Amino acid sequence: MTSPQPSDPVSRRRTFAIISHPDAGKTTLTEKLLLFGGAIQLAGAVKAKRNAQQTRSDWMSIERERGISVVTSVMTFEYGDCVFNLLDTPGHEDFSEDTYRTLSAVDAAVMVIDAAKGIEARTRKLFEVCRLRDIPIVTFINKLDRDGRDPFSLLDEIEKTLALDTAPVTWPIGSGRSFAGTYCFETKSVRKIDADTEPMTVSGLDDPALLALLPAHEADAWLEEAMLAEEGCKKFELAAFREGHLTPVFFGSALRNFGVRDLIDAMAEYAPSPRGQDADKRHVEAKEPKMAGFVFKIQANMDPNHRDRIAFMRVCSGKLARGMKAKIVRTGKTISLNAPQFFFARDRSIADEAYAGDVVGIPNHGILRIGDTLTEGEEISFRGVPSFAPEILRRIVISDAMKAKKLREALRQLAEEGVVQLFLPNDGSGALVGVVGALQLDVLATRLEAEYGLETKYETSRFGICRWITSQDPIALKSFIESHGSSMAEDIDGAPVFMSSSEFQLRYDAERHSAIVFSDVKDYQ
Ligand code: G4P
Repeated sequence: MTSPQPSDPVSRRRTFAIISHPDAGKTTLTEKLLLFGGAIQLAGAVKAKRNAQQTRSDWMSIERERGISVVTSVMTFEYGDCVFNLLDTPGHEDFSEDTYRTLSAVDAAVMVIDAAKGIEARTRKLFEVCRLRDIPIVTFINKLDRDGRDPFSLLDEIEKTLALDTAPVTWPIGSGRSFAGTYCFETKSVRKIDADTEPMTVSGLDDPALLALLPAHEADAWLEEAMLAEEGCKKFELAAFREGHLTPVFFGSALRNFGVRDLIDAMAEYAPSPRGQDADKRHVEAKEPKMAGFVFKIQANMDPNHRDRIAFMRVCSGKLARGMKAKIVRTGKTISLNAPQFFFARDRSIADEAYAGDVVGIPNHGILRIGDTLTEGEEISFRGVPSFAPEILRRIVISDAMKAKKLREALRQLAEEGVVQLFLPNDGSGALVGVVGALQLDVLATRLEAEYGLETKYETSRFGICRWITSQDPIALKSFIESHGSSMAEDIDGAPVFMSSSEFQLRYDAERHSAIVFSDVKDYQ
């Protein structure tokens, strides 16, 4: 990467993720975006990840070759005047926690929708996470080269199911076999599919040169619809987009590399540069001079014999310079940032400097955890790297009782990486692990065996649900914990967690203890 312009490196940055349901075309679109950014070699790495999504065994073996997943976690490329940081979210829904954390580190998202399928379950879920943080969204309706749904019905679905206004920036000219390109309402220009030329300017929707692109029997109906869209649909408004109320919509085909340039141009033009971030004591602006950032992802590194990990940190303000010292606010310890890394394609390179919006990898031996804030000394903690109550709880048991202590340590380390959540029951019984998806349990067992030589198995627990509990009234909290000893546990930070066998039971307890707040989300800090 060429070094950022000293003039205003922050304004040039765009840090984003792609959200979609599996198969909508996220991987294909990522490859094409990277081609625009000149990171051509990456196509292979992205493909490897695609295979990884397909089956469990593939995933496990690929994951063991950690290099690939490390480099594809964040992809940095330059296009036009901008430096783009594209943060990858795991494809498999079992890793949704990882995805939510990643979304806490972006300023914008591209929502990819399959034109034949519309909004699907996972798109909606990810969208909701974006909405919680008011992340602006650019929509890419993909696979226009195939028969899909009518554009109006797709826009209508976005508006209704996501309560998000839509402003089509382009409009498809035909669809499926007759898909000829797109028309841009604002510039009155036509981009033709499979023609790597500049858009053709026309007099308007009824320009004969435009209509000639369609089969004669489709032209009239198309014109009527497109005029309706031009008059009836909302126009793009930057403020509404930035606030997360309105999404500009582009139509295209990632596979045919069509519409992708318009998309990336829109990201450069409309997507916000790095936003300020809320910390516990104050709001931190991206352009403040002092470096501050937070860790949103930890990835075990190549060599399982050394517990080296890469912590992915989003820089939130200031300039991170190689060699600088930073304070880990949680522990008060200092870490020297001697080898922060940038990620491109299959390569990583040492980052000499990084700015707000950038994501750097910090190699460490376990002193950094998800949610950690690093500063130049200030005692602040960024908010918003959430932890969600797991949907599956299992008791983990080990055949060799002599290794119980080693198991605890291993579980602690893996929980710090975010592989699973760990709950230690107050009654001293065996540790419980909590996950969102069953595949996480496979990964945990495999890693315990491969990296720690621990053979474990899972037993069902009588608890199915857990909630973090807090209260304004410390006495009420203490007495609740004492009177529910056998249902209480501590999470990895020592925070009290109430475990329950069923929703019914939980409601029963909650009704009887109105001073206690039962929460299914916990901020890391
Ligand atoms: P994902 O990461 O969101 O899961 O989706 P991915 O890009 O892997 O795409 C899923 C499938 O959809 C792939 O086909 C891909 O080639 C296809 N696809 C993506 N974009 C388009 C498009 O614009 N038009 C058409 N027609 N197809 C598209 P596959 O057969 O599952 O994989 P492959 O064998 O082609 O690699």
